[in-house]
Formats: sequence, C-alpha cells, structure tokens
Amino acid sequence: MEEVREKIETLRELIRYHNHRYYVLDDPEISDAEYDRLFQELAALEKAHPHLITPDSPTQRVGAEPQETFSEVVHHLPMLSLENGFNEGAVLDFDARLKRFLGDESPIEYAVEPKIDGLAVELVYEGGALSVASTRGDGRVGENITPNIKTILTVPLRLTPLSGGPPVPDLLEVRGEVYMEIDDFHRLNRIREERGLPAFANPRNAAAGSLRQLDARVTAKRPLNIFCYGIGRMSGDGFETYVQLIHTLQAWGLRVNRPHIRVCPSPEEVVRYCKELEERRSGFPYEIDGAVIKVNRLALQARLGNKSRSPRWALAFKFQPVQASSVIRKIDVQVGRTGALTPVAHLEPVEVGGVLVKRATLHNQEEMERKDVREGDTVLVQRAGDVIPEVVKVITSRRTGREKRFRMPDRCPACGAAVSRKEGEVVLRCRNRDCPAQLHASLRHFAGKGAMDIDGLGEKLVAQLIETGLVREAADLYHLRMEDLLKLERMAEKSAAKLLRAIEESKKTTLARFLYALGIRHVGEHVASLLAERFGDLEALSAATEEELMDIPEVGPQIAESVVSFFSDEDNRRHLQRLLDAGISWERPAPPERTALRDKTFVFTGTLQGMSRTEAKERITALGGRVSSSVGGKTDYLVVGQDPGSKLQKARARGVTILSEEEFSAMLEGESHGE
Ligand code: IVH
Repeated sequence: MEEVREKIETLRELIRYHNHRYYVLDDPEISDAEYDRLFQELAALEKAHPHLITPDSPTQRVGAEPQETFSEVVHHLPMLSLENGFNEGAVLDFDARLKRFLGDESPIEYAVEPKIDGLAVELVYEGGALSVASTRGDGRVGENITPNIKTILTVPLRLTPLSGGPPVPDLLEVRGEVYMEIDDFHRLNRIREERGLPAFANPRNAAAGSLRQLDARVTAKRPLNIFCYGIGRMSGDGFETYVQLIHTLQAWGLRVNRPHIRVCPSPEEVVRYCKELEERRSGFPYEIDGAVIKVNRLALQARLGNKSRSPRWALAFKFQPVQASSVIRKIDVQVGRTGALTPVAHLEPVEVGGVLVKRATLHNQEEMERKDVREGDTVLVQRAGDVIPEVVKVITSRRTGREKRFRMPDRCPACGAAVSRKEGEVVLRCRNRDCPAQLHASLRHFAGKGAMDIDGLGEKLVAQLIETGLVREAADLYHLRMEDLLKLERMAEKSAAKLLRAIEESKKTTLARFLYALGIRHVGEHVASLLAERFGDLEALSAATEEELMDIPEVGPQIAESVVSFFSDEDNRRHLQRLLDAGISWERPAPPERTALRDKTFVFTGTLQGMSRTEAKERITALGGRVSSSVGGKTDYLVVGQDPGSKLQKARARGVTILSEEEFSAMLEGESHGE
C-alpha cells in the first residue's frame, strides 16, 4: 500500500509540475498525449484505491455534488474597489495627491497593468492547498464558490514552490480576476443560441454566470480563466514590491499577467504606458476596460492605506468607450422607477467592443433634439464598461430623407397618465404612483444584486406578479404564498419554493442594502452605505435634517433634499413600516475593532519628519481617535514636531500629555500591531 501511495504522490507532483508549465508559464515540456497518459494512470490508481483520494489531487477538479445555495464567506480583509480616473490629468493629480499625503516629494515608482473586465475572487490557500474560494460580494462577505473555482484549470489546487523560490506560506489569500476570453465567449453564445438559450450580453456576464453555478459540472464546461493581481492576508515574510509579489505568486503556480505589468518611474511614464495599452486594447484576447496603476513599494502602500471604498495607493485609468455604427429601426419610450420617460433607440444589432448591442439610450427629449436623432438614422453608438450603451451622434451623410422624427408622448405609454416636466428639469415624468411600469422597474431594482438580492425575480415573473395584482408594492413580495405562485404561468412547485426561499432569505440584510433597495432618488449603493455608516439605524436617518445629512462630506443638497423628502412622505413611511413588519432586519455593524485610541483627541504642532499631517490624521482616525487643530479642554495628546508653535505652551499649561514624534510613531505602531 505504501508503494501505491508513493506512486500516486509522484504522479500528482508530476502532473502539477506539467500543469504549471502549460497553464501558468505557457511553456509545456511534454505533449498533450503524454500528459493524458499521466493523468489516466493517476485516475486509475485512485479509482482502485479511493481512500487515497485527497481534495487537492489534480483529478478532483469536478468532484462535487450540486449545492443548494452558496454559503457565505467573510473576507478577513475587505475586498475594495478602485477609484477611477479618465485622463492624463487624473493620473498627474493622483501622483501629486500621494506625494502630498506622504509629505515627501521624492518620485514614486508605479506598477501599471491591464484592468481585466471580469469578476474579482479570493482564493485561500492553507498549508499550500486551496481551501476556500469566494466572490467579492459586497466586499466584506462573498459567496463560497470553491467547487466552481476548482474547475478552472489555471487555478492550482496546491501551491508548488519551484526550487530556489521562497517557501509557500501557511496562509495565503490570493485575489484575482476570473474572466472569459472573447473568442470563447462568442463560441459559448453560438452554442447557447443553437440550443434556444439566451445569449450572454458580454464576456464578463458570461464569466459571472458561469462561476455562480450551483452545479460545478456546468462551470467545468465553461472556458474560464484567471489572472491573480494581489493578496489579502499572508503568513511569513512579506515582499518589498508589488512586482516581486507577482513574480513569487507565479513561482508558486498562480497565473499572473506578467508580460503586461510594467514598472514606471514617473507619472509621465505611467500615462505613456496607459495610452499604449489603450491603443493595443483590441489586440488582447480578453476585454480590458482600463489600466490599473499601483504604487510599487509595498511599504508605501501600507502607509497610504485605504479610503472607505478603495485603496489610496491605486487608480484605475479608464479607457475611452468603444464605438460602432448602426441603424435605428425604431425609437420608443421606457418608463423608469422614478417615472422618468427615456427615449430608447432599437438598433440593428451591432457588436461594440465584443458585446452585441441592440438598444441604446437617447437620454431625454432635449438630447434627442440636440443630436437630431431620427428613426432610420445611421448613428454612432458607444458603450463604456457597465453603463447602458448610448447614441453619440447621427452620421448625417447617410441620411436618405426617409428618416422620421420622434416626438415624446404626452401620456405615459404604460398607464396613460399625463406626463409632465418639473421646472428646470429636462426629464418628462409619469406622476401616477400606481403606474405599472414604475412598479416594474422599482421591483426589479428592489430585488437587484446590490439591493435585497432576491434570486429568480426576473423580468417576466415581475410582469406576471404585477398583472395578476399579487404585488402592488415591494412589501407585497413578503406576503406571497405558494398557492398564489402556483397560479402563475409556467410556475412549478420547485421553482415557486425556490423563489419563496430567496424572498425569505432576503429579509436578513444590511441597512445599506435596504436603503439602496428603497430606490430613494440620488441614493445609489455608495451613498446608501455612507448613510448607513453615519446614522446606524433607520430611526436616526429618517429624523435627520438636511444640514445633518450634508455633514457627510459626499452628501450635497440634492441628496439631502431627496432623503428628507422621502422620509417625510406619508405613503413612503407606511410602506417602510410594512417592510419592517414583514421581518426585514439587519444587524448593527460591530463597532470598529481597533478602538485603542477611541475618543482620544490629538493636536499637532511643528513639522513631522516621518509622515505628513494627513497621513498622521488618517492613522489616528483609523484607530478610533480624533484630530483637532487647537489645544482645548478635550485635548488628550499634543504631538510635537520640529519648530513647534505656541500650542506647546498652551498644552503644558493645561497639563496635556506631550508626545515627541518618536513616541507618537511608537504609539501608532504598538496599536496597529495589537489588533
Ligand atoms: S487591483 C483594491 N488589478 O477591478 C482593489 N484589480 O474596479 C485592488 N480588476 O475589484 C484591485 N483587473 O476586480 C486590480 N489588474 C487588476 C485588475 C483589477 C481587474 C478589477 C478588480 C476590482 C475592480 C475595481
């Protein structure tokens, strides 16, 4: 038996080695046939001795039974997103901002690489073996997609140190982007269309849809791939630079986009490479929607730290949207959840940057008239990342004279109510609160991913629920019963039960998601999370005044007005109460763990040598403390830099504890390590 065990282990090691050569280094040493023989030999031995099968064996990529639902995975370090910049100026500003923050004008070295248009995942390796893989989710909690990730052949089930490389750490959390190549995406869609299945809108949706499969056998048939671009937690020694980290990840068997990562010593160099990548964009076999600019030195990254949603040390340089021309077959009007009427152009299907576009927005009547867009026109269409495609301009030289002008209707196409325009606004709105089209759009929003996330509440089902009168407002969803659903067309017991379960599960949510789901005007996902963070509960938020709301740096008068008016509306309050009565609830987020400096107030005088004031302030607030500009009754510490001013005397007179810069740094160090 020992002999068999050894033989199996040797085969696994060999296969892993050749996997790495083939998938990661793109440099195979043996033929496919030789590889297949090794694999078959291992499979046969394992079949004869099933007790010797381990989860990290190369044969175990598609072993799992379909799951009922995805379980949750908490990301120990949050998975953040990136701040966007759209031009050269944004890159130069970014560089200047970092220098100011660090209080140091020395050049910063950057690593620049393509931004892959896929979906972010986290892979956890424990003792060198892949233990858990998850989606980004809301950044804090994602979905457990381990069986699905295992089907991706470029994801190693076990990390393999190449000789001479650094040892594989006991714990490694790797982050990367799962994506589908453009050719594979088209091939998949062709097959789906032949089978009468709906096509995926773009490679990213195809990748996401393939990864979020309860049955990993489906995922296994989809051509997914991964690029790793960062880490979460890691045990053992760290690295000096991002580029070193990437090289080491590759040495351990993880797939990285090494040939396209370039170190740039200045912001000008960064801009040049970003533009180069943009020009080469269509030559990549996968979609890239920008370049990611990262500070190369990891010690600097650590000093720069994070903002609420994104690291301070990185910037996404977004590319210009891609354009194509097509013909408008007809124009019609869509009613959104706020009643806004949007003219939509139905196009001859056209591919724009790898995505088939059939409709494009014309925004509103004014825009449509300004661009003089007519039915039958040949137009330029553009698509940028996530946003809805839009008509950029008419190619007037293609006019035949048979084009037809479109006039916005004076009645809502869905409910027939008169539409009107508010003073100073360009948008026409249907003001009928019971308009089915508005209800449709708000229910879809309510059930959407970043909102209550009710799986299975698709377009057709929502339409049926409204038509049958089963749902008149979102709260009605929580009173649906099995017998109601079974009366609907094409609704069997199994899918009804699944839907009811999804609705039930959505009740446990977060305040931020719930606020976003309510569809308050100007309150998107980001603002909703700011509001939730600041007010903590619904009572406090609904009682907030415009001034209190505008205390949040990113909240302006428009948002403040909209929030106050939402919560003062009688009908909204009634609906809210019904939702809460139905059992929607959330936990109050735990107070930040790092409370060492909680409520301690710091004041600075003189110039700090090791860090800028901004950085010092950031680090204090991260540990729960406050910074004030003058010494007063509440001051706990005065930090004294070079050439202190009169604050020093004032602090001494008041008996405030005085810290030298060294003492202050030691205090920060001590606290941030003592998590
Ligand atoms: S670094 C803190 N590098 O873009 C986030 N992200 O818009 C660090 N993405 O959520 C991310 N390619 O999913 C990084 N080369 C790359 C990337 C990349 C794609 C995604 C990632 C992130 C999103 C932000």
